[in-house]
Amino acid sequence: MTTIGTPLSPRATKVMLLGSGELGREVLIALQRLGVETIAVDRYDNAPGQQVAHHARTITMSDPDQLRALIEAERPDLVVPEIEAIATPALEALEAEGVTTVIPTARAARLTMDREGIRRLAAETLGLPTSPYRFCDSLAELEAAIDIVGIGYPCVVKPVMSSSGKGQSKIDGPDDVAPAWEYAMAGGRVSQTRVIVEGFIDFDYEITLLTVRARGASGEVETQFCEPIGHRQVNGDYVESWQPHPMPSTALERAQQIAGAVTENLGGQGIFGVELFVKGDQVWFSEVSPRPHDTGMVTMVTQWQNEFELHARAILGLPVDTTLRSPGASAVIYGGVDAEGVVFDGVDAALQVPHTDIRLFGKPQSFPTRRMGVALAYDDDVDTARRHAAEAAGRVTPRAV
Ligand SMILES: Nc1ncnc2c1ncn2[C@@H]1O[C@H](COP(=O)(O)OP(=O)(O)O)[C@@H](O)[C@H]1O
Ligand SMILES: [Mg+2]
Repeated sequence: MTTIGTPLSPRATKVMLLGSGELGREVLIALQRLGVETIAVDRYDNAPGQQVAHHARTITMSDPDQLRALIEAERPDLVVPEIEAIATPALEALEAEGVTTVIPTARAARLTMDREGIRRLAAETLGLPTSPYRFCDSLAELEAAIDIVGIGYPCVVKPVMSSSGKGQSKIDGPDDVAPAWEYAMAGGRVSQTRVIVEGFIDFDYEITLLTVRARGASGEVETQFCEPIGHRQVNGDYVESWQPHPMPSTALERAQQIAGAVTENLGGQGIFGVELFVKGDQVWFSEVSPRPHDTGMVTMVTQWQNEFELHARAILGLPVDTTLRSPGASAVIYGGVDAEGVVFDGVDAALQVPHTDIRLFGKPQSFPTRRMGVALAYDDDVDTARRHAAEAAGRVTPRAV
């Protein structure tokens, strides 16, 4: 049975978000609607989620001592990682000591924090189809992996600790290898020299399959899938997404089997963003994040319960409903300028585009490629929604003051 207390009372149900960007902010809002007391943690003050939570805390989440001290002081019922760069061994220890519960599990947070843990689990432990890959610690190892081990060209190099395409590049021939190595060394999240090199998959399209593990009527954890989300990535970062993405039934079944297998192994309760490549009936596992996914922001306009509400419900032990409400699309609004405290012109013009909505994340600092907001559109068909979402996003102009 799930019992929820009163916020700011001794019996409050307390949830701590580790990472309070635009995705964390929506989870916090969903939790608050259910009467949960929320603590928003980020590495800088006034992060989007900190602006809507009961409590805001600013720490270095990759520092195990700072992380432990905060969790011991706040004693949240649940700790919800929203980013990868967290001292996950400290979370595993706190979970083992019974101090708190980590969503979905501390082990899942550790395995998905770098590309190696999750890739080895998916490909080697679970035997799921992935691109061919090798891990390399030097330029010489990278050259050998491509030329001697046989990853071949084209291929993709990524720092093992990175996200949003940072440090990632495609290699088309021998001349690209050294620059790709240098780029990866400059783009990794922490000072480290390990990269993954993957054979390039010439997919027809890629999807995010949002997969929810939540308690059903029987009390057992059940797995449910949202409709596939299609998306377009530029330089490894998502530019637009839409739902549903049409798929042949064989490919959809395979995608669900893969997502089911990997999320069952990771365990716990909550939503997972499973990234898959599809060509005809063939499906490859790419990666998974045990939390809401950026491409899933489209569900704010397409589902009865968006991905943030699904996550909030699932982690609290409540039932979920993944039903689609309408086809729709999302398009990212970028910062465009380097500035603090930008103003956004054209919000009114954007919302004159039929069936649209927008979210502005309230980030204190803008830079040209920073995601500052998102435009959403629903319609009878995905193509119209995509056009309208892009049109609305394009009408919003951040300006330095
Ligand atoms: N092996 C690959 N073959 C083809 N495209 C790839 C491959 N790996 C990554 N990509 C492209 O780059 C994007 C970002 O890669 P991903 O591994 O998801 O990194 P991140 O963790 O930064 O999201 C993918 O969504 C896909 O479009
Ligand atoms: Mg990705």
